[in-house]
Amino acid sequence: MSSAFKEIYQNSIQNPEEFWQKVSDDIFWYKKPKQILNKDNPPFYKWFCDGTTNTCYNALDVHIDQGRGDKIALIYDSPITGNKKQFTYKDLKGKVSKFAGALKKQGVNKGDRVIIYMPMIPEAVIAMLACGRIGAIHSVVFGGFASNELASRIDDSKAKLLVTASCGYEPGRTVEYKPLVDEAIKLSSHKPEKIILYQREGHEVKLNAPREISWEESLSNAKDEECVEMNSNDFAYILYTSGTTGIPKGIVRDIGGHIVALKWTMKNIYNINTDDIWWSASDIGWIVGHSYIVYAPLFKGCTTVLFEGKPVGTPDAGAFWKIISEYKVKSLFTAPTAFRAIKKEDPEGKFFSKYDLSSFESLFLAGERADPDTIKWAENLLKVPVIDHWWQTETSWAISSNCTGIEMQKTKYGSACKAVPGYDVKILKSDSSVAKPNEMGDIVVKLPLPPGTFPTLWNADERYKKTYMTNYNGYYQTYDAGHIDDDGYIWIMSRTDDIINVAGHRLSTGAIEEVLSEHQSVAECAVLGIADKLKGQLPIGLVVLKAGVTKDNETISKECIKMVRDKIGPVAAFKVAIVIKRLPKTRSGKILRGTIRKIADKEEYKMPATIDDPAILKEIEEDLIKNNILK
Ligand code: COA
Ligand code: AMP
Repeated sequence: MSSAFKEIYQNSIQNPEEFWQKVSDDIFWYKKPKQILNKDNPPFYKWFCDGTTNTCYNALDVHIDQGRGDKIALIYDSPITGNKKQFTYKDLKGKVSKFAGALKKQGVNKGDRVIIYMPMIPEAVIAMLACGRIGAIHSVVFGGFASNELASRIDDSKAKLLVTASCGYEPGRTVEYKPLVDEAIKLSSHKPEKIILYQREGHEVKLNAPREISWEESLSNAKDEECVEMNSNDFAYILYTSGTTGIPKGIVRDIGGHIVALKWTMKNIYNINTDDIWWSASDIGWIVGHSYIVYAPLFKGCTTVLFEGKPVGTPDAGAFWKIISEYKVKSLFTAPTAFRAIKKEDPEGKFFSKYDLSSFESLFLAGERADPDTIKWAENLLKVPVIDHWWQTETSWAISSNCTGIEMQKTKYGSACKAVPGYDVKILKSDSSVAKPNEMGDIVVKLPLPPGTFPTLWNADERYKKTYMTNYNGYYQTYDAGHIDDDGYIWIMSRTDDIINVAGHRLSTGAIEEVLSEHQSVAECAVLGIADKLKGQLPIGLVVLKAGVTKDNETISKECIKMVRDKIGPVAAFKVAIVIKRLPKTRSGKILRGTIRKIADKEEYKMPATIDDPAILKEIEEDLIKNNILK
């Protein structure tokens, strides 16, 4: 029997230019590209390089041109504040054009960078689209990051302007943005010229004119701006993500490839049509939020939900079911953690039975490994397909998935299904040979990567080449390891670098170690991600003190935890720092982080042949027991 999926997949790999040329016909171009792929300077491939288009035009104007301006584009629902709003495509275009005018009035032009540090409110989406309208490059910074992280992004992007809000709301706590922004600007060497701040209702903060102005003020006398014609390879945005060192990597997205690929995914991966209601319960500060709260659903012309709340506690474990039933959501995309949180609080699904979920057709999970127990629990409750799919900030869309709009594949629990059209995924062994089916190795993608993936890093071509494209010549190294089985299913087993995944949030243990090393009593340290039932992984720190330190261990531990919260942010969820006597190392001085992690997770481990002093492992085990990590 012929398989529609197999045929489309093979065509995308064998004839990528023909494949993507056809797909590219589905978007709006001012000038259609004649050259589909420029391969002159590998690994810097350029898709649709002579085409011209505009991100915002494809997200908004095009649907109005096609007579669908009265359709709801964005539903905002905030159980945390009790606010709800809906915007048609025409409404949204009006607000975006006006804010684009406000940005212009403040001197923002094509190519300028704008940092957006905002909670989950419609103005954040409006600011993103307004940048696209005038060809400015946005860089959204997640609200759970501290000033230090914001400062490093201001410095690296050299942002001309920063858009923020007076506050965000977390359950039981108001996040004051202004002091965080002030501190970031104090810390950064580059200073944005202007700050536009959205005053949230009932929570106004003082602004210092003329550099700081309110959102409302910025709109007064602003003209409606039309879309600017952009080259396909100009950048739409920079999204910083954790790298193997503390310096975040500026993942950039080119304009044309982004629109082409993301629009295609809505139907082909998610089976979403223009009349459907789609919901991605993530945050705009992450790639899932960029691609699937904002861009892909709007490129498709369907309705997207912006949810300011949590799966539990806002107000209860029925929050997700309430949204699905109220707006007749067809599909939801979230991180497995969200479902683990619901399962923990409402294992029998009592809240679920209160709502009518007849509109609901599928649940997509990504951001971290979806454990089979959670998938089965969700399947049992929802009675719809639950689909684990795998992707990264670098790619902006799924590398492997069940492509439900092409042909449904059977579920294999623990696997993120098959490579998506456009991605030629291989497993390579350390000698660069291709692994046999079921054999573990590094997961790589043969170059060129499909449209919509990252063409380079912001101002760091060499880092792009060295980090991702050098270890395996001709391939993109994902830094995930795993295997492909006999049926072509991909199994993502672990990261090969220092990245850990905490509640679907990507964090670098190296960056946390850099913070701990700054503590004046700390001589050396190791941070590792240990298994956690709710968040997947949690970071713990082991610190060795300098000789002669007299401060007590508990104080040092508290100071370490505070430093990580202050320098990286609450999102790091760093709550454990244990003072130990010494760290296990190889004879050449390398800390045996992998072995410590295995001890903490009660996994079997082999005594490393190169270990300096095996007795240290026993000491660590005792320290972990004493601190309730190992039970
Ligand atoms: N602004 C400011 N602080 C934020 C924040 C934001 N946007 N998002 C999270 N934080 C803070 C939280 O308030 C919390 O602070 P605390 O230490 O003072 O309690 C800390 O960062 C950790 O947050 P979180 O990881 O969200 O944990 P939680 O215990 O508050 O909630 C879950 C647990 C499972 C409910 C939550 O992690 C969740 O909804 N996960 C879904 C995963 C997801 O959306 N991933 C995105 C990628 S797809
Ligand atoms: P981010 O760039 O924040 O989206 O994080 C990407 C990383 O999250 C990947 O490299 C994986 O390590 C992990 N990840 C994302 N989705 C999955 C998945 N479905 N299964 C396993 N790991 C995943």
